[in-house]
Order: sequence, then structure tokens, then C-alpha cells
Amino acid sequence: MKRKLYIKTYGCQMNVYDTERMAELMAPDGFVVTEEPSDADLVVLNTCHIREKAAEKVYSDIGRMRALKDRRARAGKDMMIAVAGCVAQAEGEEIIRRAPVVDMVVGPQTYHRLPVMVRETTRRRAAGERVRLVETEFTIEEKFARLQRPSDKKGPAAFVTVQEGCDKFCTFCVVPYTRGAEFSRPVAQVVAETERLVRQGVVEITLLGQNVNAFHGEGPDGKVWSLARLIRRLAEIDGLARIRYTTSHPRDMDDDLIAVHAEVETCMPYLHLPIQSGSDRVLAAMNRRHKVDDYRRIIDRLREKRPDLALSGDFIVGFPGETDADFQATMDLVRAVGYAQAYSFKYSARPGTPAAEEADQVGDEVKAERLAALQALLAEQQLAFNRATVGRRLPVLLEKPGRRAGQLVGRSPYMQAVHVMVGNEADAAIGAIVEVAITAAGPHSLEGDIVRASDRPAA
Ligand code: SAH
Ligand code: SF4
Ligand code: F3S
Repeated sequence: MKRKLYIKTYGCQMNVYDTERMAELMAPDGFVVTEEPSDADLVVLNTCHIREKAAEKVYSDIGRMRALKDRRARAGKDMMIAVAGCVAQAEGEEIIRRAPVVDMVVGPQTYHRLPVMVRETTRRRAAGERVRLVETEFTIEEKFARLQRPSDKKGPAAFVTVQEGCDKFCTFCVVPYTRGAEFSRPVAQVVAETERLVRQGVVEITLLGQNVNAFHGEGPDGKVWSLARLIRRLAEIDGLARIRYTTSHPRDMDDDLIAVHAEVETCMPYLHLPIQSGSDRVLAAMNRRHKVDDYRRIIDRLREKRPDLALSGDFIVGFPGETDADFQATMDLVRAVGYAQAYSFKYSARPGTPAAEEADQVGDEVKAERLAALQALLAEQQLAFNRATVGRRLPVLLEKPGRRAGQLVGRSPYMQAVHVMVGNEADAAIGAIVEVAITAAGPHSLEGDIVRASDRPAA
């Protein structure tokens, strides 16, 4: 019997990856994905705990699901509600206490058990029992061994998680608690998953990890392989045209990985390398374990090897104790580096993290002011970066239809969204890499004309 599954994804790209895996895990039990929660026999909220706002949104969504569940009950239909992801890991049983409508809580390292949990819940409910299951152990190795990607991947770009968890313990961050200790998948597993994707028409992969450049997976030779070595190996896969990786930590940006940006043609000239703050005092209080200067030197070395590298980052404003001078140091750093794109956030005190206990919390008004100033500067830099590509010819991977008829949207090597109109070029289809003359630039995207369709077959 077919049943319907609705999954809502919050937070980072790793949650996007996990959502796809959960959908695949449920498919053999007859679950088909729906975009409409009111149709769903099973609702999974794949949650994020990184900032307070993200975590609180989950409870309002649970409230909405409860209303849908009540409506279904009146029509004689059931709905199971599962909370997965980082809120599930951080709060566990507490979720059920606060929201008794929730049937299952499953952490990011246990979701391979979701099918068994759903079967048990279904069976015991049919027998009239009210059951609540909570599974939040750290069984990451078992999880990856169980994941099987299917044979119907849609779209030319895909994520592959290669590393998960974090041992860095930045004083503001929940990730070491929600995703657990650093774990790297064996190289052979990553290669096999990537090869399978490429056979299905994928031409670009993004390697994911909370600290992806701390990758230290077991190689086929029994030795520990670095991320640089993994990328060199993946670059040998025929048909894989683009490799990206995210997110990196400055501490793990070694010379070999820097060299990969010059030597591996398929490694894209884009790097997300968060620093969080431009003040050494704040970096020390955050336990980032490097100085602003170390970061500047890494950027210099990267640009020496790959002068056109597009840089991205993450910034936190209003960390406890951050003074005006500290914040100005962040602005100075941003001016000195020049970002193609970046994310910035107000510091959010997270339960259980050391920084949340600090006495000198910064007021929300100050945080808002600093965030506005930083975001204005970053937006200016992003627009300048985009404008500098006008007049150039860039290879663009066509990824999906645009809003207008005949329009497709793709990505440049620098991660910029590029809109093109497709005429009768037979091979300018989704999955193709075409050469585009960039004609216009806005803050968030580029426009251009296809000057040469690809010789690569479309996916
Ligand atoms: N592993 C990555 C980041 C993971 S979280 C790294 O080390 O860079 C993604 C981003 O969320 C972080 O880079 C940080 O900028 C932001 N972030 C994490 N915890 C936060 C908090 N408590 N308040 C505000 N922003 C936070
Ligand atoms: Fe969080 Fe720091 Fe680990 Fe990144 S390196 S996931 S910010 S603890
Ligand atoms: Fe959020 Fe967890 Fe990702 S807290 S950012 S979903 S690792």
C-alpha cells in the first residue's frame, strides 16, 4: 500500500543530504514523497539547532502539523510526526514533553533506523497502543554503511557527505553536540557513491562536511587520506566535470589542499572559509584557535595559486564582549579580503555552549546595527564581484528551468547563478556545460548569452 511522506528541511546542506537519504530509506516501505503535508501519513521535520530562531520555528511547525493531524483524524486517517535533525539530537525526550503530538524523535546519526521505528509505531498503534520512540545514539559508522543511493537521481549537481561531526568546540556552537565527534567516511565508499551518481548523469558534486577539510578517511591502501588526496582521486572519475567542497576551517587548510586549487582542473575556484570575526581577541574567546593573520596568509597563498578564487565566509556579530573596536576589525578584514559572497549572523546564545554563560552579552540593538553595517558592506562586495564578470565568457552548468519560458538557470565556476535564454541549441539542456558571455550582473545573479553549446552530452 502506498503511503505519503512529507519532509521539511531546515538548516544546512548536510540536512538536505540527510532528507534525501531518509526519503530513500522509507521508499521500500511504500512511502512516496509529497510536497503537501496535509496528504502525509508520515511527516518528518528535519531540524536545525544552530540559532534560536531556527530551533523555535520547529515548535510552531509542530503546531501546524497537529492541526493537520486533527483534520485527518476527523476523516479517519492517521498521521505520524517525527522530529529528526539537530533539534532532535539536542533536545531528545524534551520535545515529546513539550509537544506530546510528536511520535518519534530521531537524531542525525540514527535516522537509518527510521523505517524500523515507523514500522513499530504503525504496528503498535494498530493495536491501540500510544507509543513514542526516541533514538539519539551516535551510530554514525552504522548509518553510512546502511545508506544506499538509488538509481534515479534528478538534476546534474549532487551533494556527497564525506565528513561529519566536529571536534573543534567553538564556544558559540552546538554542532559538536548535535552531530557528535568528527567522522570521515572511507574513501572507497565516497568513490563508489560518486561513481554511481556520475552514471546517473551527475556532473558536479559538492563534498559536504561540518569540517570538510579535516577529512581523514581510510584509503584503499589502508592509510589515512586527506581531503586533497580524496579530491585528486575523485577528479579521475570520467564524466565528473566539477568538484566543490564545504565547509572548511582555516586550521585545516593545508598546503596540499591549496595546491589542489591550482592543479586539479575540475576543482572549482570557489571556497567557503569562515573566520567569524576580524578581531584576535574575539577569535580567542570563540576558541577558533587561529589568528586573523593566519587567515590572511592562507588567503594570500590561495590567491597566489588561484588568482581568480571566489571567497565566501561566515561572520558572527555581537559575540559576548565584542566591542566597537572588535567589530571595526571585522569590517577592516572584510574590506581587506574582498568576498564574492558571505553569510552573517547575530550571535545567538545556545543552551549548553560556554559563550552562552558569559556575563557581557551584547544587546540586540547593537547586534542589529552591526549586522546591518556588515551586510551592507558584504552586499557591495558581492555586487562588485558579480559586475567584474560582465564581458567575460564563463562555463555554466545548466541546472534547472528559470521563471520565464525558454530560460534556464545555471552556475558559474564561482557559484554565481546565471540566467540564459535557450533558443534552438539542441544540446543547451539541463545538465550541459555551456559557454556564456556575461552581459549583466545584479546582486544575486548574472545574465548572459550562450556563445557555444557544449560538446558534453546532456544528463
Ligand atoms: N563548521 C562550520 C560552520 C557550521 S555552523 C565552521 O566552522 O565554519 C554555520 C555558521 O553558523 C557558522 O559558521 C557561524 O557563523 C554560524 N553560527 C554558529 N553558531 C552560531 C550562534 N550561536 N550564533 C550565531 N551564529 C552561529
Ligand atoms: Fe561549530 Fe566551530 Fe565546529 Fe564549525 S568548527 S562546526 S563553528 S564548533
Ligand atoms: Fe543546523 Fe545541524 Fe546543520 S544545527 S546548521 S542542521 S549541522
